[in-house]
Amino acid sequence: MNPKEVAGRKAAELVENGMKVGLGTGSTAYFAIKAIGEKVQAGLSITATATSRQTESLAAECGIPLLPLVEIGDLDLTIDGADEISPELYLIKGGGGALFREKMVAIRSERVVIIGGEGKQVEKLGAFPLPIEVVPFGHQLTAVKLEEMGLNPQLRHADDGAIYLTDNQNFIYDCHVGRIEHPTRLDEQVKLLTGVVETGLFLGIASEAIIGHENGTTSILT
Ligand code: 5RP
Repeated sequence: MNPKEVAGRKAAELVENGMKVGLGTGSTAYFAIKAIGEKVQAGLSITATATSRQTESLAAECGIPLLPLVEIGDLDLTIDGADEISPELYLIKGGGGALFREKMVAIRSERVVIIGGEGKQVEKLGAFPLPIEVVPFGHQLTAVKLEEMGLNPQLRHADDGAIYLTDNQNFIYDCHVGRIEHPTRLDEQVKLLTGVVETGLFLGIASEAIIGHENGTTSILT
């Protein structure tokens, strides 16, 4: 079985009547959203908010009632994927480019459930390039600062070769940092840079992670 689907479906079981739910972005969140949509078709009553335009379209297709984040209020549960998950439940997110909205939604959620296949588990964060969302104005100067910090930033491009634009019309630098020994310090230092909107480090945000396995089982990290 596809471990992403296994994890996504397991997480969808947590969604109950009356909940306000944050919907993540990416190929694993896709399966959770599909499964939540099936529950809604079967009579489940929830309201949800999306972490990206892509998720907004998918949720609407699935018949999930959506509200903007500013209108929905505090959320009971958010289900989202991750690019890396450490044993402390520290995460790298943003491979799909939605890190800012994902963090905005997650920090307003009582419970944040991260879903992923086994390959997402790491001992230390940093093998996956750390996405950093920056304002386009003067982005080359912001990149120099990231370079000076030893973060090896690379401007993200879309498949057609154009500079990748986030849903917030910002750019992303994927930073090839290698093993991150002090994620909190790194996050604080990067966020002090003028021009940086948000980092893909999600620290102390996840409540638990559901890891899907090929044999159809899941394991839970808390
Ligand atoms: C998008 C994200 C995704 O959750 C992350 O990239 C994982 O994606 P996938 O489930 O497709 O592997 O952070 O911004």
